[in-house]
Amino acid sequence: MVVSIGFIGCGGIAQQHMSCLRQIPEAKIVAFCDIDINRAKMAASSIQGSRAYQDISEMLRAEKLDAVYVCVPPFAHGFEKLIVEKDVNIFVEKPIALTLELAKDIDSAITKAGVVNSVGYMWRYLDTTELAIQTLEKNGPIGMVIGQYHDPYWFPPNHWWIEKAKSGGQVVEQSTHIFDLARYVAGEVSRVYGELDTLLLKDVPGFNVEDVSIVCMKFKSGAVGVVTSTCASRKTFTGTKISFLAKNVVAELGGHAGYAKIYWNDRVEEVNAKVDPYLEEDRVFVEAVRTGNTSGIRSPYHDALETLKVTILANRSSEEKRPFLVG
Ligand SMILES: NC(=O)c1ccc[n+]([C@@H]2O[C@H](COP(=O)([O-])OP(=O)(O)OC[C@H]3O[C@@H](n4cnc5c(N)ncnc54)[C@H](O)[C@@H]3O)[C@@H](O)[C@H]2O)c1
Repeated sequence: MVVSIGFIGCGGIAQQHMSCLRQIPEAKIVAFCDIDINRAKMAASSIQGSRAYQDISEMLRAEKLDAVYVCVPPFAHGFEKLIVEKDVNIFVEKPIALTLELAKDIDSAITKAGVVNSVGYMWRYLDTTELAIQTLEKNGPIGMVIGQYHDPYWFPPNHWWIEKAKSGGQVVEQSTHIFDLARYVAGEVSRVYGELDTLLLKDVPGFNVEDVSIVCMKFKSGAVGVVTSTCASRKTFTGTKISFLAKNVVAELGGHAGYAKIYWNDRVEEVNAKVDPYLEEDRVFVEAVRTGNTSGIRSPYHDALETLKVTILANRSSEEKRPFLVG
């Protein structure tokens, strides 16, 4: 069976998935939908025989799709029920929504429909992530988690990212990858406390997301953790990484670079990733749709809801100046 795929949202991350799906013989992209029809047409022009739509319902009516990739900005979620209620399998880019109410509603619809579902937390698919998990299991327990998402400011004027109501802010939209890896490796978070502020980029027109933040976490295992984020760093002081300090080892995962560094008392082992995590998450999703076997999916929608919960509560904690239990 070849899996027929439609896209909703044809921007940056959609291009990334298109390039991966082209490398998977069992996948065929047949339709593109974007509120900006020119973007849908542009994407369709790159794949022979595919069609462009501006309206989601029209695409779902006209096409016989096995799966849809949802690649819209955070504020634009909310139509997912239309997809799954038609028994169409779904891949959703992170963050899955901007409110827990909406994400829970979509999660219920997915569960009810019983469709294959996956969320774009691609770092879970790195072989180096697996190596860190196995090393930590043998040399644990984990006592402390230290993560960072440090970027320079690079967004063009009027980009949706710089408006909190559209992106959810850096913790919800970007550092979510670090929070997700923290949960994937160290287990569930029980308490969260955040201090988020806008201090360095106040002069950027329209910018109202936080540009510096720290989020402290207590894990159910007892481990403590912190994630620092900024989008206002210098180009020479950037990087995404997360370190897990365990009884007999420290394992560090290098976010975008995908490396693992394993620190022992007498040596440091550095391992580079052998897999492309985007290709791997797409390959696993397509295979799950094709066979119905979902055991390879490492980030189902229901699990991504928990990462959203931690990041939203970190925001609320900062607003209300108190820690929150993650129920
Ligand atoms: N996993 C990753 O590494 C990764 C990387 C980049 C972006 N993302 C995520 O992907 C999502 C999209 O980011 P992007 O960089 O591709 O954004 P983008 O702005 O480049 O593209 C988004 C596209 O969605 C379209 N769109 C908006 N609302 C729509 C709607 N209601 N119906 C149809 N189309 C609509 C826009 O017109 C635009 O073409 C974000 O949530 C982002 O966090 C994930």
